[in-house]
Amino acid sequence: MGGGGGGAGGGSGNALHPEKVKIVATCLVVAVGVYLLGLYLKSGAEWRSNLSLSLNMKKKKKKPIRVYMDGCFDMMHYGHCNALRQASALGDQLVVGVVSDDEIIANKGPPVTPVHERMIMVNAVKWVDEVISDAPYAITEGFMKKLFYEYNIDYIIHGDDPCVLPDGTDAYALAKKAGRYKQIKRTEGVSSTDIVGRMLLCTRERSISDSHNHSSLQRQFSHGHSQKFEDGGSGSGTRVSHFLPTSRRIVQFSNDKGPGQDARIVYIDGAFDLFHAGHVEVCYAFPVYSHVRAF
Ligand code: CTP
Repeated sequence: MGGGGGGAGGGSGNALHPEKVKIVATCLVVAVGVYLLGLYLKSGAEWRSNLSLSLNMKKKKKKPIRVYMDGCFDMMHYGHCNALRQASALGDQLVVGVVSDDEIIANKGPPVTPVHERMIMVNAVKWVDEVISDAPYAITEGFMKKLFYEYNIDYIIHGDDPCVLPDGTDAYALAKKAGRYKQIKRTEGVSSTDIVGRMLLCTRERSISDSHNHSSLQRQFSHGHSQKFEDGGSGSGTRVSHFLPTSRRIVQFSNDKGPGQDARIVYIDGAFDLFHAGHVEVCYAFPVYSHVRAF
């Protein structure tokens, strides 16, 4: 009995006091609560940082604005380059359509330079990202859809000179109607047609005795394009361009970075009269020189 009583006495000594049980249970509940709160805060912070990461990525991945300019670009001159410079400033990527020989023949008469040479010239311009060959002269419904859905073009761009088709309609009427047309300022004082006129004047000057034809050509190709001669219009035909080479304009045309410290610098000179595909290719003969890119 005595042993049994002793056993019973030991059992009651080990039994937990209800107060103690309460304290332990409270501690456990608090610990689990703190743990769960920690988990919640951690996952919230992760979620917030994931959200801001994806928002940043979305910001970075914003769709680039793609603009399209087309043209003949026959005997490419600084008016064309200035047009491409302005067009590229209206978007993030500039796609240029070079009009096919056949389309030029049908709409304006034969070009001097064939399409593959015109492509080389346009491709060499630093503001051009992509070139499409054999572009149509007019923006037709079908071609406009191709530009929007295949080439992802946002805007179609042309100079502020009227571009009329043989039937008198506007070549950009559909793009204007679709609200996807933007205009740049045409550079006065230079055009492919005028260059042809200057060449004819050059040959005439060699036989100046033919003064009647000479002055009629001057009227047609110079005064007709509101050009001025430095000698007041009567003499040798030295042209004054309307393209002002101000320091701001020069900066717009310059390359933004100079040669690196160890760059090999190559000098090339020439008259570069009527800059053509051969001039471009001779510059590309020195591939280390990214900034020999034409214009
Ligand atoms: N352009 C320009 N300034 C110029 C000549 C052309 O801004 N002096 C622009 C045109 O408005 C056009 C683009 O360059 O958006 C391509 O011109 P092109 O098709 O070659 O057209 P033309 O106007 O016939 O150019 P040019 O008179 O030199 O033949």
